[in-house]
Amino acid sequence: MTRSYRIAVIPGDGIGKEVVPEGVRALRAAADAFGFGLDLVEYGFASAEYWTEHGRMLPEDWFDELSGHDALFLGAVGWPETVPDHVSLWGSLLQFRRRFDQYANVRPVRLMPGVTSPLAGRGPGDIDFYVVRENTEGEYSSIGGRIFEGTDREAVVQETVMTRTGVDRILRYAFELARTRDRRRLTSATKSNGISQTMPYWDERVARMAAEYPDVAVDQYHIDILTAHFVLNPDRFDVVVASNLFGDILSDLGPACAGTIGIAPSANINPERRHPSLFEPVHGSAPDIAGRGIANPIGQIWSASMMLDHLGEREAAAAVLRAIEDVLAGERAELTPDLGGKGGTASLGRTIAEAIPAAA
Ligand code: NAI
Ligand code: MG
Repeated sequence: MTRSYRIAVIPGDGIGKEVVPEGVRALRAAADAFGFGLDLVEYGFASAEYWTEHGRMLPEDWFDELSGHDALFLGAVGWPETVPDHVSLWGSLLQFRRRFDQYANVRPVRLMPGVTSPLAGRGPGDIDFYVVRENTEGEYSSIGGRIFEGTDREAVVQETVMTRTGVDRILRYAFELARTRDRRRLTSATKSNGISQTMPYWDERVARMAAEYPDVAVDQYHIDILTAHFVLNPDRFDVVVASNLFGDILSDLGPACAGTIGIAPSANINPERRHPSLFEPVHGSAPDIAGRGIANPIGQIWSASMMLDHLGEREAAAAVLRAIEDVLAGERAELTPDLGGKGGTASLGRTIAEAIPAAA
C-alpha cells in the first residue's frame, strides 16, 4: 500500500476558485513525482453561493465531515457584495481555526528570486525567516465591556488572557521550528516595558523554555523597535514568535517586506495532530481582479508545499518550493501581471507544475 492523504479542498470565493485548481495541479504533480496518493474531496461551503442558498456559511455537520481529513486546503473566503465580511469570516475560517485548535499560525517570510522587495538593496537569500503567531488567546479575548454608556463616565475595558498552556505550547512550537533551521535562532516579540502583567509573564515563559533548548540562540525585542528592525535589518531573523496581536501585525509586515501579497502562504497548525491543520494563501478573494484569470497562483501553490511538509512529505514540499523559485527566476513574461508579467493564473500554474519533477 502506498501512503495516501485525504485532503479537504475548499476554494471559497473570488480568486480562491481560480488559484485553488493550480494548487491542486501542483499537488498532483508532486504526488506523481514522489509516489504518494491523494484523495481530494472538494467542498462548496464557506462561500457566498453557499450562504445565499442556505443562509449560513457551513453545513450543520461540518466539524465531523472535515475531521476525517488529514488537512484542509483553502482558497479565500469573502464576497462583501453578498455577505458582510464579519459574517463570512466568523462563519467559516475562524470556526476552523478555533474548533480545530489551530493555535500556531505560521507564515514564511522569504525574498524569492525575481521578486523585488520594497526594501532597498535586498536580494534573494537576504530575507528568510518565519513568523509564528499565537492564534487562539492573548489580546483577542472577548472579555470586557462598557459601563455608563452615553454618559461622561462612559468606560470600556477589554482583557488580555494568557494561559500557561497557551503560551508554552506556541513557544514550544517556535523553538522546535528554530531547531530545524540552520541558524537556530529565535526572536521573541514583547512589550514588557509598557504592558506590565502579561508581557513580563510571556518573557518569563520564554526564558524557561529557552533553558530546554540550549542549542537555540534566543533574543527579544519590544514590538515597536521590532517592527523597525523588520524593515531595517530583516536578515537578522530566523524564527520570530509573538502573541496574537503582535503576531497579527508582524505576519502582515513580514510578507510585505518580501514583495507581493500574491505569493505569500500561511499555515494554521494543530501541532498535536488531533485535528486537521489548514493551509491557505495570505491574500483574500480579491474581488477587484476575480474572474479575469490573472490572479497569481503562487501563494496557493506555496501553501500546498507547506501542507506537504506538514504531512511528512518533506522532499515533495521542497521540490514544489524549488519549482516556484525556478519559475520566478526564469522568463518574466510567464508571470502574472502583479509580478510584471503577461501570464495568466492557469498558464503560470501549469509552468510550475511542469517544473516539479525536474526539481525532484
Ligand atoms: P485581498 O487580499 O483579497 O486583495 C488585496 C489586493 O491584493 C487587491 O488589489 C487584490 O487584487 C490583490 N491581490 C490579492 N491576491 C492576489 C493574487 N493572488 N494575485 C494578484 N493580486 C492579488 O484583500 P481585500 O481586498 O482586503 O479583501 C477581499 C475579500 O477577501 C474580503 O471579503 C476579505 O474579507 C477577504 N479576505 C479573506 C482572507 C482569507 O480568506 N484568509 C484574507 C484576507 C481577506
Ligand atoms: Mg491580518
